[in-house]
Order: sequence, then structure tokens, then C-alpha cells
Amino acid sequence: MEYLAGIDLGTTGVKILLMDEEGNVKGTKTEEYKLFTPRPGWAEQNPSDWWEATIKGIKGLLEETGIKGRDIKGIGLTGQMHGSVFLNSKGDVIHPAILWCDQRTAKECEEITERVGKERIFEITCNPVLTGFQAPKIIWLRRNYPDVYKNISKILLPKDYIRFCLTGVFATDVADASGTSLFDVRKRRWSEEILETLEIPPSFLPDCFESPEITGYITEDVASLTGLTKGTPVVAGAGDQASGGIGGGIVEEGLVSISLGTSGVVFAHLEDLFVDPCGRLHTFCHAVPGKWHIMGVMLSAGGSFRWLRDTFFGDKKASYKVMTDMAENVSAGSEGLLFLPYLTGERCPYPDPDARGVFFGISLKHRVEHFIRAVMEGVSFGLKDSIRIMKEIGASQGKRFRLTGGGAKSELWCRMMADIFDGPTVRLKVEEGPSFGAAIIAGVGVGMYSDVKDACKKLVKEEEKIFQPDKLNVEIYERFYNLYGALYRNLEGLFDNLSEIS
Ligand code: XUL
Repeated sequence: MEYLAGIDLGTTGVKILLMDEEGNVKGTKTEEYKLFTPRPGWAEQNPSDWWEATIKGIKGLLEETGIKGRDIKGIGLTGQMHGSVFLNSKGDVIHPAILWCDQRTAKECEEITERVGKERIFEITCNPVLTGFQAPKIIWLRRNYPDVYKNISKILLPKDYIRFCLTGVFATDVADASGTSLFDVRKRRWSEEILETLEIPPSFLPDCFESPEITGYITEDVASLTGLTKGTPVVAGAGDQASGGIGGGIVEEGLVSISLGTSGVVFAHLEDLFVDPCGRLHTFCHAVPGKWHIMGVMLSAGGSFRWLRDTFFGDKKASYKVMTDMAENVSAGSEGLLFLPYLTGERCPYPDPDARGVFFGISLKHRVEHFIRAVMEGVSFGLKDSIRIMKEIGASQGKRFRLTGGGAKSELWCRMMADIFDGPTVRLKVEEGPSFGAAIIAGVGVGMYSDVKDACKKLVKEEEKIFQPDKLNVEIYERFYNLYGALYRNLEGLFDNLSEIS
């Protein structure tokens, strides 16, 4: 039997997945590491922690499954996007990695936008410059740590540091590079114009490949550390969202995936490049060679639900199941209670770091179960914002929704989303998302499958059960959704006032 591996370098841990050529997952193993917040709004990790966890995960999974390194025919990499790993000429890390969720670079975003030109940077990168993206982090380091900056030889995205450790090669993929603000998303290559304007040497950046291309091979040292075999090919892979898109089979128009983890992501495939002219959604290169994807990233989706549990049910240790069972007893619309899920600000469709969560419409009749349901509905309305914009601008008609992530475990949430999105909604048989996608991409790269689309057709399967929208609920939710949108528009200025005084 031949196997493929996917390595997903997440924010809380690295997940290793092994599957056979039929797409049967043989095992997964997650090893966690720490996230450091040295100041409010900062988010850093030690790349050496990632690497240690990766070695442990690979070694552990090979032992647990009994699969031999020599039977693994290819390895795909995926992981948290947008972060920066700074290396000197010896390949040593010279500053903690600054992550996608770090918010320290508002000033640098403005500076980049001004220097390159607001319209020009949008034209080249297909997106506005956002605090999470990589370029503003580089400018921040140059300004605040000039001595460190002067020793830089390479700047890598997080998963590409793992590639360097595995193969000794500096490389990245077009999907992950799309989230740097340094990449020409139309032409699928680094933008010389942006690099020149920002005075960032092109030699700092790794070579860029389409996702299934082989970028290097497992070294002898790594083979002895992990149990992998020297010479096993490592393909370019993709950032976690594009790779999750492959794992969810989002490789044709009409299908939309919704990933309901801490953040919430609405993801659609694009046959041709399509950009939201207002910059509310991201357009990035897809892991399907020559194609793109469009997505909306909501910062606190499942995160809002976890906050609710930890804050109000922490001492009672209520499980998510207990909470969603309670919410079943409340009718659609939570009897007039609405929730805005902007607990950590928002990214799509409102790039607003000052936005905050809101419960609206509280009355004496509202019990704890109303609050639970209102949070689930508010998060679903937030996701619908991205679906609506995709439809409005003609990027995706969203005819069928595939749900992944922790939130999809709740049947109530699945039904609710079918009603709120007004379309058939299904879950997937393999719900590993990014790591599954990375293994599929590896299989394409080593010639096990003919191309990414074909591989997805063969390997990605929906569950039999389809959640169909209930017409009555669709109408109820439509009215509440309109009010939900009006709430943000009315409160936008007040969020600014709140941030000034708090
Ligand atoms: C995508 C994004 C997140 C991170 C962390 O734009 O910011 O998906 O990659 O998972």
C-alpha cells in the first residue's frame, strides 16, 4: 500500500495526517505549542517549537499506525498563513515569528498603502493591505529592530520554515504568497514593483511554485529524526484556507465551503480571477494551478461560542452539546434577541479592529437558551454576509454549502445555516480540511492522481444527509438578517468612540 502525508502547521498545534491512495485517513496526530502575547494585540510563536512538535508528531504517528516511511510517497505542507519567520544567512531564526492574528502593524499598513498607492496595491495584490498580512510585519521589524533587520537573509511564511527544516530548501506556494501584500495575484509571482517601492530585497523571498509542484526532498538528518525516508518528495502545498478548500473539494464554481472553527471562513473557487471592487473579501491564488479563490474571513465564529461557554458556563462545565440542546428549545430568531459576533474586531466584510460584540433586543422573556441560540444565529449571519457579497458581485452563486470545523458537529447549527444561507447544506465524510487537502495535493505532485480536480472528485465525499432549508425559517431569518446588517451600520461610529475611551 502507498500512503501520502499532510502536515498542517496550525496556530495552536501541528497536525500530521496519513492517508492511503483511496483517501482513507489512516491516522492523525496533533502536537501543541505555545502562543505568546508579549503585548496586547501581539501574537508570536517560536519556530523551534513548531519544528520540535512536527518531528514528534511525524515520529509518533508513524509508530502508532505502523506505516513505514518508505511507503509514504509524498508530503504536502499547509498551515497558518500571513506570518513572518526571519532567518539569517546561516538559516537561524533571529526574531520570534509574528503571526497572522497579530495587530501591531496598523501604521505600517497605512505606510505601504501610501507608498505603493491605494489603487495600485489593490490592482496588483487584489486585496487591501491588512494588519495580519506579511509585508507590514517586515516594515515593522525594519523600523523597530534595525539591527535584526540588517541580518535578514530570508523571510518565510510559517509552513515554509517547516519545509526548510525538512528539505533545506527555501520555497513557497502561490496561495500562501497571496497573503503577503508582496505578491502579484494576477500574474502569480512576486511583485517586483512592490518590492522595489518598499525597498525589500527580492532575495529575502523564497522561490514560488504552484501547489502540487515538488519543491524538495526529505534530508538524511530528518529521516533519522522522524522515521521518514530520505528523498521523499515534499510538494509546495498551500496556505490553510486554500488547502482546506482542496480537502473540502471546492474546485468548481457553485460549491461554497464554510469552515466553522475559531474563525469562520466562507470559501469559493474561481475559474477566472474575480475581485470584490470594495475589498470586503479576499481574492487569492488557489491550490488548483492557474485558478483563484475568493473568501471571507470572520475572526470570531466558533470563538464567539467558546467565549459564551467559558464566560457563562465555565464553572458548570457545560459541553457544547448541552448548550446546543438548550438552544433547540428556542424558535428561529431567538424571540427578537440578536448578537453581533465582533468580539475581536472584524476582518470580512468589515475590516474594523474596533468593532465589538453586541446583544440587541434583550427583554424579560429572554433566558439563557435564547442567548445561546442568538450567538449561533449571529455567527451564521456574519458568514451570510460573505455569501451575500459573493452573490452580489457575481463571484459565486453559492448553490450548495459544505460545512467543516467544530461548529459543524452540531445538527442544529447545520440546519440553522441551511435556513440562513437558504440552500442545501452538507457535511463531509473526512473533516480534516487543510491536512487532508495537503495530502491530496502531494498525491497530485507525485503523479498518484492526474490533477487536483480529478483527485478531489475521487477522494472528497459528502455525507448522505442533506440539510434542506425550511421555507418558513428562511423568511424569518431574512427579516432578522436585515436588522443584523443595519445594527453594524448604526453602531460603526460608536465602536470608534468606545475604543477611544476604553
Ligand atoms: C486566512 C487566515 C487564517 C490563518 C490562520 O486568511 O488568516 O486562516 O491562516 O488559520
